[in-house]
Amino acid sequence: MKIQAIKGFADILPGDVERWQFVEQKARAVFALYNFSEIRIPIVEKTELFSRSLGDTTDIVEKEMYTFADQDAKGSLLTLRPEGTAGVVRAYVEAELYQTEPVRRLFYFGPMFRRERPQKGRLRQFYQIGAEALGRGDPYVDAEILLLLSDFFSGVSLDGVTLELNSLGCVQCRPRYRKDLLDFLRERAKKLCPNCQRRMERNPLRVLDCKEESCIEATRDAPSILDYLCQDCKEHFDTVQQLLRDSGLDYQLNARMVRGLDYYCRTTFEWTSNRLGSQNAVAAGGRYDGLVEDLGGPPTPGVGFALGMERLVLLLGMKETPKASRPHLYVAWVGKAARGWAFPVIHRLRQRGISVEMEGDEKSLKSQMRRADKLGARVVLIMGDDELKSGKAILRHMETNEQVEVGLQGIEEALLAKKAGD
Ligand code: HAM
Repeated sequence: MKIQAIKGFADILPGDVERWQFVEQKARAVFALYNFSEIRIPIVEKTELFSRSLGDTTDIVEKEMYTFADQDAKGSLLTLRPEGTAGVVRAYVEAELYQTEPVRRLFYFGPMFRRERPQKGRLRQFYQIGAEALGRGDPYVDAEILLLLSDFFSGVSLDGVTLELNSLGCVQCRPRYRKDLLDFLRERAKKLCPNCQRRMERNPLRVLDCKEESCIEATRDAPSILDYLCQDCKEHFDTVQQLLRDSGLDYQLNARMVRGLDYYCRTTFEWTSNRLGSQNAVAAGGRYDGLVEDLGGPPTPGVGFALGMERLVLLLGMKETPKASRPHLYVAWVGKAARGWAFPVIHRLRQRGISVEMEGDEKSLKSQMRRADKLGARVVLIMGDDELKSGKAILRHMETNEQVEVGLQGIEEALLAKKAGD
């Protein structure tokens, strides 16, 4: 019986993976321009890291985490990371990265895990490209993060995405909003879905994010967080918007965007596409000025984003696929002596930077030529007993069909020179 992958867990096969590599390469280039360094963090963390940072009443912590007992520490739980920010901040605090450099700009690539209902653009293991800028609380860095993303989208030729922007205020101004929103919701509690009725008291803002038609309808006239911002939050948000306008980056305000994680404050954002169906956010993030301190570090502001690779690749998939990797040289051989001669030569060529493909079993010359064509090899070296005897072989240029005779003595130099000349 065949064993299949788990529901919501997908393979990224050759043919698709080239697009992933293309995206990653473009991301690395943009991160370098904005002076971000890569960080690699573990996939498994203590469960409390996520419950403390993302919040106990969030969907992720309530029902979506892959959690299991730590066999090495009785009573402790471990979790497959559902996102990257918490782990990055944990690492930042643990390694005291703030000691050597007050401002850290970090980026990461990798798989995240959430037990959500799989659907188009929603997996249980999905990949994010994320970035976190730690140590700066000014609005310039918020705008910079958004411009970085916009530059990245241009770099991969993604269009048709909309930037939605909001501010969630801070510990000074949000409680007053929370209270007024809760009063508003209590009056309409009966009209809310059971899930919102249940969590409304503990996390009223999440009700604004509910996708149920009844909740959308009931909260249509809900108070707007943007009317409650304190002077500092208002100035911060106004500056972010001014910077975006000055840089020519379009955005839409969306006061109902509350995000699914509790660590956010002030600027929050989502980049959405109407070509993704209901899972329409391709990237999202915002500011989290209290998180470093909550996780035991010194007061340190932070802002960041994560983008969903599968969703981005889905959107890019509607365009031309980048070319799969192809060998430079294909060695077509006839007779075991030719294969024996070719094997070490091929190894030396690979060591010198030439990609080579050769069959292991003897096949007709015709089928080998077909295979070289299919693989997209640029040149084919044809080798047999006669060639070994005469010390000369045929090199065929696949694009032009031009054939030249080459001496086997010094063949490596000749191939290297030919490649350099291409
Ligand atoms: P998030 O909004 O939970 O934020 O996820 C960011 C992005 O990851 C989403 O916009 C989406 O593209 C992708 N994503 C999320 N869940 C799934 C899924 N089940 N399947 C496929 N793609 C998914 C965060 O994770 C924050 N850590 C972002 C952040 C960084 N905020 C500040 N810094």
